[in-house]
Amino acid sequence: MSATLIDGQAIAAKVRGEVAEGAKKLLERGITPGLAVVLVGEDPASQVYVRNKSKACVEAGLAVFDHKLPATTGEAELLALVSALNADPRVDGILVQLPLPKQINSQKVLESISPDKDVDGFHPSNVGQLWTGQPRFVPCTPFGVMRLLKESDTQIAGADAVVIGRSNIVGKPMAALLLSANATVTICHSKTRDLPEVVRRADIIVAAIGKAAFVRGDWVKPGATVIDVGMNRNAEGKLCGDVDFAAASERARAITPVPRGVGPMTIAMLLENTLRSAERR
Ligand code: GUN
Repeated sequence: MSATLIDGQAIAAKVRGEVAEGAKKLLERGITPGLAVVLVGEDPASQVYVRNKSKACVEAGLAVFDHKLPATTGEAELLALVSALNADPRVDGILVQLPLPKQINSQKVLESISPDKDVDGFHPSNVGQLWTGQPRFVPCTPFGVMRLLKESDTQIAGADAVVIGRSNIVGKPMAALLLSANATVTICHSKTRDLPEVVRRADIIVAAIGKAAFVRGDWVKPGATVIDVGMNRNAEGKLCGDVDFAAASERARAITPVPRGVGPMTIAMLLENTLRSAERR
């Protein structure tokens, strides 16, 4: 392999250390940043995410308010909880773990979160703030990717960036951030024609498709930076990304591994968003 490995685990630890410092300063003013984490149901992946988020908060000196509700919870009940959290002065950030059970309209719940406590950055008001270049809260995964690009000395201004995937959680906010940083951005998806040819033009590739080893090594332009947001299980049950890592690392200048790449950054940036919210108290 010739590419430099972008160590998300180490960079996330650095961010969490910065957050812990910030939290210590706030404590001198009598403020403890607080994050409310709401999990509805027993989805195993969501349970792991929520546990990791809570643990990282406590380690950085943030208060966590965990709310675990049964899978049968109704929409009205969840909206009532969000409303109480909106009004709770100890809570600086509210995270409702997605996906939610089918009987609940997720968009309605996300829109009920106060935009001033929306540390996920999913409220339409925060989406608008991001796209108009005045971000209040930046969605955690793309925010983490921007930090990885910075830490790996990737030139963004003027670069051709290709984002594969158009979700509200990753692809769309990722494109907004790269555009704000003066990249020329292409968003690809399942209907994109000649995807390999489009990806071959990219100086920066962000893969967020959700299919193991979907991006082949020969799609990677020599010298490109490759960021793999994927979290898939391969046939042997091993965690792997959206990029054929072994082949891509032969051509990339820098690349993130899976695990220990983007994943740890999502949690670190959630802590950072919660700290920033508390600083605005
Ligand atoms: N589910 C998967 N990723 C996320 C995320 O970043 N935030 C929330 N709330 N739910 C998720």
